[in-house]
Amino acid sequence: MPAPPNLELAPFESLESGALVERIQRVRSEMGPRLLILGHHYQQDEVIDLADMRGDSYGLSERAASSEQCRAIVFCGVHFMAETADILANRPERLAERGGLRVPVILPDIEAGCSLADMADVEQVEKCWSELAKVIDVDDVTPITYVNSTAELKAFCGRRDGIVCTSASARAALDWAFQRRGRVLFFPDQHLGRNTARAMDIPLEQMPLWDPRKQKLGGNTPEAIRDSRVILWRGFCCVHQQFTSYDVAHFRAKYPGIKIIVHPECMMEVADLADVVGSTSKIIREIEQSPPGTRWAIGTEQHLVDRLRREHTEQEIHLLSTKSCVCSTMSLINLPRLCWVVENLAAGTPVGVIEVEPETARWALEALRRMLEVK
Ligand code: 13P
Ligand code: SF4
Repeated sequence: MPAPPNLELAPFESLESGALVERIQRVRSEMGPRLLILGHHYQQDEVIDLADMRGDSYGLSERAASSEQCRAIVFCGVHFMAETADILANRPERLAERGGLRVPVILPDIEAGCSLADMADVEQVEKCWSELAKVIDVDDVTPITYVNSTAELKAFCGRRDGIVCTSASARAALDWAFQRRGRVLFFPDQHLGRNTARAMDIPLEQMPLWDPRKQKLGGNTPEAIRDSRVILWRGFCCVHQQFTSYDVAHFRAKYPGIKIIVHPECMMEVADLADVVGSTSKIIREIEQSPPGTRWAIGTEQHLVDRLRREHTEQEIHLLSTKSCVCSTMSLINLPRLCWVVENLAAGTPVGVIEVEPETARWALEALRRMLEVK
């Protein structure tokens, strides 16, 4: 029998929110625990309200790794998160438990990427590694990739006894690495690497910046590489790099007593001025634990800050910027797309399935397992 045709997206885009929510809820109740909808904290409220779990990159990875009953995951986040969920949910032991049945991981918009993850590709990192090998002993280097990276880069780390980290586990990953080897190559986010290494008292002079666009040693001298402890990749998040030390000064002057909390993807000069630096989950925990009347300026993606403001009216919450700071790719996920993917799934014609090539998944899993073990 020929497969039924996919439902088209266009008709969903002309439906009203109420109708879309009702239809999504209908699929959720028909599928019950077989469907798991995961939502990153940066998602729009209308999407996050329909998620079974909201979380940071680390928490959502753990949930995908531990899901036993679910038979499909809809990941309301960005591409690298869906890839990670696919690798963890379909790792060999889980596949064996399900008699070989794969759990499809669906990204409601295939275009929802991460500009930071796009700043390092595996060819560039391979080239960096072989250039480093001419100057230092790469057997003494642990590659660490931030989870905001392609599956190929996670596999690169898996093959070389490296590790994946999230913003919540970067310190644990660096501690783990330095117990084993003398140096780290950290990619693709320079700021997370620098902020974390600084908190471990590693001097800036021992953190050269590797610019993949520069011809020789990423723009470094051989001496700088030989003296290094953490080699930082020249990548950054364009959302978090918008927060400046000027913003910190402005909010401190305008709101006496205000506390500044920022994500570690912010620049070092901003992190150094902040009262607290932490992952999205840490930011949420800090706000939840603060007494009424606390004043905050938060340096992270705006959807999360706006949600915290609405959920904590007993506190005074500001975005640490006078401009808007939205992750445009996260925002591609909306109700029409969510409804489109869950109805296609229920109809047996899944769309937006993210499936990592098996050999890449095998090696990426090595590095992801270490991430889940070290925290
Ligand atoms: P978390 O790891 O804190 O969830 O952050 C993910 C991310 O993409 C931040 O920009
Ligand atoms: Fe990527 Fe930045 Fe968006 Fe996070 S906020 S998903 S790092 S572009």
